[in-house]
Amino acid sequence: MTLVTRRRFLGGIAASSVLLHDAMAKAAPASETMPRTQADFERLHARKATAAILPADIGPPTPIWGFGGTAPGPVLRSRAGERLRIAVENDLDVPTSVHWHGIRIDNAMDGVPGLTQDAVAPGETFAYDFVTPDPGTYWYHSHDRSWEQNARGLHGALIVDEAEPWEGADRDIVLVVDDWRLTGTGSIEDSFGQMMDWSHGGRLGNLVTVNGRYKPRVAVRPHERVRLRLINAANARIMDIGLGSATTRLLALDGMATPLADMAGPVRMAPAQRADLLVDFPASPTRLAMTIETRDGPVAIAEIAVSGEPVRAQFPAPIGLPAAGLSVPSDPQDARRVELRMQGGAMGRMSGAMHEGRMMDVRALVEAGRIWSFNGVAGDMDEPLARFERGRTAIVKIRNETPWPHAMHVHGHHFRVVSRDGASVVDPVLRDTDLMMPDETIEITFVADNPGKWLVHCHMLEHAAAGMMTWFETV
Ligand code: C2O
Ligand code: CU
Repeated sequence: MTLVTRRRFLGGIAASSVLLHDAMAKAAPASETMPRTQADFERLHARKATAAILPADIGPPTPIWGFGGTAPGPVLRSRAGERLRIAVENDLDVPTSVHWHGIRIDNAMDGVPGLTQDAVAPGETFAYDFVTPDPGTYWYHSHDRSWEQNARGLHGALIVDEAEPWEGADRDIVLVVDDWRLTGTGSIEDSFGQMMDWSHGGRLGNLVTVNGRYKPRVAVRPHERVRLRLINAANARIMDIGLGSATTRLLALDGMATPLADMAGPVRMAPAQRADLLVDFPASPTRLAMTIETRDGPVAIAEIAVSGEPVRAQFPAPIGLPAAGLSVPSDPQDARRVELRMQGGAMGRMSGAMHEGRMMDVRALVEAGRIWSFNGVAGDMDEPLARFERGRTAIVKIRNETPWPHAMHVHGHHFRVVSRDGASVVDPVLRDTDLMMPDETIEITFVADNPGKWLVHCHMLEHAAAGMMTWFETV
């Protein structure tokens, strides 16, 4: 592809993003700004900074965009049932917003520009103020041009502690796993918006970090029992994370408690998914590798140094987390059924889709920065997928008619995947993001009990930007 053609591509994408934003803005409420002096709000600045992603002997610091000037941003903590008040101040020179991924949240606080708020302009502040109803491991991230802003570092962990302290582990450790696409001199490759990434598996990085560092050391003690809170913050990478010989059990997925289960191998996390693991470390000092699976086998992404005095002689029996407080009926009689067909992508079978109110062939779609569609529409946001009366049970049948995996995310709700390829799922867990394989069909169910406008999109952020996005409304 010549440079000129590529420029036209990029121009096309930028222009159509603006149009999308304008179309959505019509329905948006006025932004809620607040004086910078208001007390009892924690302040979170979105700003430019540099970060030592690479060790000093390998490369210079990397210019990033980060909440609080770090990537990931600070770990925010709340308690189940309590209110979190965060004033996000935008010190960047572009608009931004914050989405609190996985929280059953007041819709006005969901952080989606054009749907639930106006983007926070440079120099402005948005006061996010909401209850965190469910304990668990969540995260927050930019939701404005998230395919660029997340990749530059605008995200962090949000931990909601149990209302009654849970005493099944000695402590918890939050590990945000991310990937970066860095140049030889350690800066973030400025290749955002490439149709090559958008039409394939998304923007994959060339360096995997844990808590923003390349191969950091995590210190634990012999016979320590730790609750590891893993978060996949990458734009598009599916991660299989292993912990070598440590005894590992699954505690929770996407924040919601699962029955305690022994884990035999790595835990798989699609972009935006979380897993809480209960890990028993060995009795004597040693070094373990935290690994990610690659085509060439597992590669170390962090070193776990087990050292010091043993915490105990013997582990007590492990205990799980209290069951999630949220329930979803698994075979409702009067559910409202909706279908969502996913098409497009490289090597896909899509011949065209509706965009900006007209039918376009693939060539015209690509010119407009679109290559995926939901129900034949490539990312137009004028009409919702469905409107539900409040309290109605929804069953959404999602067909992945593409040769690519996708991480399907529903804002503000956890759902159960009740069937895969027609076979019902036994004991379905609660998730806010599900990894769908090529040509797979699933049925998800949730109760539409929270009024407002909620996005449904692929969390491979390039796919969302290129057409895999819709919304539903609960009225
Ligand atoms: Cu992590 Cu639209 O979401
Ligand atoms: Cu996708």
